[in-house]
Amino acid sequence: MERILQSQDRSLQFDVVSNPEFLSEGTAIRDMENPDRVLIGARDTPSGGKARQAIVDLYAHWVPRERILTTSLWSSELSKLVANAFLAQRISSINSISALCEKTEADIQEIALAIGMDTRIGPRFLNASIGFGGSCFKKDILNLVYLCEYYHLTEVAEYWEQVVRMNEYQQARFLSRILSSLFNTVAGKRIALFGAAFKANTSDTRESPALQVCRALLEERADVVVTDPHALDNVRVDLGDDARRVTMEPDPYRAAMNAHAIALLTEWTLFSELDYEAIYHSMAKPAFFFDGRNILDHRKLFQIGFNVHAIGKPSLIHP
Ligand SMILES: NC(=O)c1ccc[n+]([C@@H]2O[C@H](COP(=O)([O-])OP(=O)(O)OC[C@H]3O[C@@H](n4cnc5c(N)ncnc54)[C@H](O)[C@@H]3O)[C@@H](O)[C@H]2O)c1
Repeated sequence: MERILQSQDRSLQFDVVSNPEFLSEGTAIRDMENPDRVLIGARDTPSGGKARQAIVDLYAHWVPRERILTTSLWSSELSKLVANAFLAQRISSINSISALCEKTEADIQEIALAIGMDTRIGPRFLNASIGFGGSCFKKDILNLVYLCEYYHLTEVAEYWEQVVRMNEYQQARFLSRILSSLFNTVAGKRIALFGAAFKANTSDTRESPALQVCRALLEERADVVVTDPHALDNVRVDLGDDARRVTMEPDPYRAAMNAHAIALLTEWTLFSELDYEAIYHSMAKPAFFFDGRNILDHRKLFQIGFNVHAIGKPSLIHP
C-alpha cells in the first residue's frame, strides 16, 4: 500500500495502520460491539504514533482501553493470521483424534469434554466434524505457510500446512465411510445432503466441506440431493456446471424421500428438530445416516432403524 501510494505522488504524507478484524459470520455485530481485543499496528515513528493514536481514540468510544492492543505493523498483521491458524489447528487436532476413535471404542465427544475441562485447554472449538470451511481459515493458514517458505522456514511451513491437509483428510475419510458402508458403490443411489453452508446461521458456502463431499459423491455418480435453509442459491453458483447434476430441495423431508442415505453436513438446529421416524419410513432400505456434525441422538436414530455413522464414534449397524 505504502509503495503504491508513494509512487503516485512523492509529496503525499500518510501512514499505514494495521487493524485486522476478527468478526465471525453470523455474529459480526456482536463481535464488533464487544470484541475480545482490538489490534492496532503502526510504525514506531512520530507520525506512525499519531496515526495509531487516531485509531485508538476511535475505538475507545466503545471498547475498554485495556482491550485495545497497540503493536508494530508486523505483529498486528501476523497476529491475525496466527489467531486463525490456532483456531483451525484446534479443529484439525480434534478431527485427527476422531479418526483414532473410529478405530477404537473411544468417543470423540467424551474426549472433548474430558480435555476441555482442563482449564489450560478450555472447552471451546473442540467439536469434531467434517472439517472447517469459510473464506478465512484456509486462506490465512496458506498465507502463513507462504511467509514461512519465503523466509526459508521449511519445517514451520510444513507444520502449519498439515492443518490444512488434516482438514482435507477428514473429508476424504467421511466420503470413504459413506462408500464402504453403502457396499462400495453409490452409483445411481440417492444421497440426501443435509446442509451446504460451511457452518450454521450463514448462507456462505465458500470452502464449505459440504461442497467437497457433494463433488466427490457426484464423481462417484451418486444421485445427489442438497437441502439447506439458506445456502441453496450459493450452492448453485459455487458448483458451476456440476449444479445441473444436483437436485436442490429446500424441504428436508422431500430431500430424504427414497434416499439410501442422509449425510448431515451443517449443524443447523432445524436438522435436529425433524421427525426422523417419518423420514426413515420414506427412505429406501437399508437406510443409512452419516452425522458429519454430531448434533443428533445417534442411539435414537439407531432404534428407529437407521444404520448410524457419526464422527469419532463407533458405528451403530443393524445385523
Ligand atoms: N467471515 C468473514 O467474513 C471474516 C472476515 C474477516 C476476518 N475473519 C476472521 O476469520 C475468523 C473465522 O470467521 P468465520 O466467519 O469463518 O467463523 P467461525 O470462526 O465461527 O468458523 C470457522 C470454522 O470453525 C468451525 N467451528 C466453529 N465453532 C466450532 C467449534 N466449537 N468446534 C469446532 N469447529 C468450530 C466452523 O464450522 C467453521 O468451519 C474470524 O474469527 C475472523 O478472525 C472472518
